Amino acid sequence: MLNFEKKQREYLSMIENSLHFYLPQQGQGQELLFQAMAYSLENGGKRIRPILTLAFCEACGEDPHAALPFACAVEMIHTYSLIHDDLPCMDDDAMRRGKPSCHIQFGEANALLAGDALLTLAFETMLDLEPAMPVAPQRVVQAASVLAHAAGGSGMIGGQVIDLASEGKQIPLDRLKVMDALKTGALIDAAAQMGCVVAGASEQVCGAASLYASCIGLAFQIVDDILDVTGSSELLGKPIGSDAEKEKSTYVSLLGLDASRRLVTELTAKARETLVASFGERAAFLLELTERLATREK
Ligand code: IPE
Ligand code: IPE
Ligand code: MG
Ligand code: MG
Ligand code: MG
Repeated sequence: MLNFEKKQREYLSMIENSLHFYLPQQGQGQELLFQAMAYSLENGGKRIRPILTLAFCEACGEDPHAALPFACAVEMIHTYSLIHDDLPCMDDDAMRRGKPSCHIQFGEANALLAGDALLTLAFETMLDLEPAMPVAPQRVVQAASVLAHAAGGSGMIGGQVIDLASEGKQIPLDRLKVMDALKTGALIDAAAQMGCVVAGASEQVCGAASLYASCIGLAFQIVDDILDVTGSSELLGKPIGSDAEKEKSTYVSLLGLDASRRLVTELTAKARETLVASFGERAAFLLELTERLATREK
């Protein structure tokens, strides 16, 4: 019988310890940068992406500890994307993860640089020459390549560019879908795939993980858009109403709340079907996680 909370706590404690371990400590004059990195990285956050990496690795039959550097790497890149996303030149949001955004606390230049340094640290972490649990070099290269592609202009950054270019406009639904698949789906896909790659899973299994991730990635951003309208900023730890203020193109602005909610339900059902078909009983934790993501309030 699956004890979801226990498993989640186990993954979270692995992730938090490992993130702390990888953060640079001793400065040579750049202590403020290290503080800004730690401030944003060790500051709550649901850790959905690293949990996916560990859970997929385990669902493929491998010890999830092997996937920890890759789980940390995707969380570092996600955190950097949030630091930059909050900057005045982007969404201009003053609160993140329940505290003042990085640029409010440390200034814009330091926030920009803390984001840059977290992005670089992600690659240093994956390419650790003495990891606690060694992974075959070919798998390391493949996993790092997956994350590099997902984080760049053909992935998350590309989506952010489309997001900014779509402010104040009614964009077609297919463009919105591409935007969300890139800005949010890409890192979620990479998180799931890296878990499979580290476990040495077949191409077919990696493909199933990717199909699953494309569903929950889109659902995740739609829920984020819904919560920006209906959520509580105390629970979310970030401002609500930010999308409307910036006239963002979102599923809610294009289709309305009800159609957006229906889409989340459909995508969640498809994601769960994919899991069951490809992972059977090993998908128990992921199945429950998928359900909870659809009804999350933060
Ligand atoms: C927020 O991501 C930004 C999106 C891509 C929707 P999360 O909802 O995962 O934020 P944290 O990591 O829990 O703070
Ligand atoms: C962010 O989307 C996607 C990223 C790649 C950071 P949002 O701009 O909707 O994320 P929040 O609502 O600020 O967390
Ligand atoms: Mg944004
Ligand atoms: Mg934002
Ligand atoms: Mg949002």
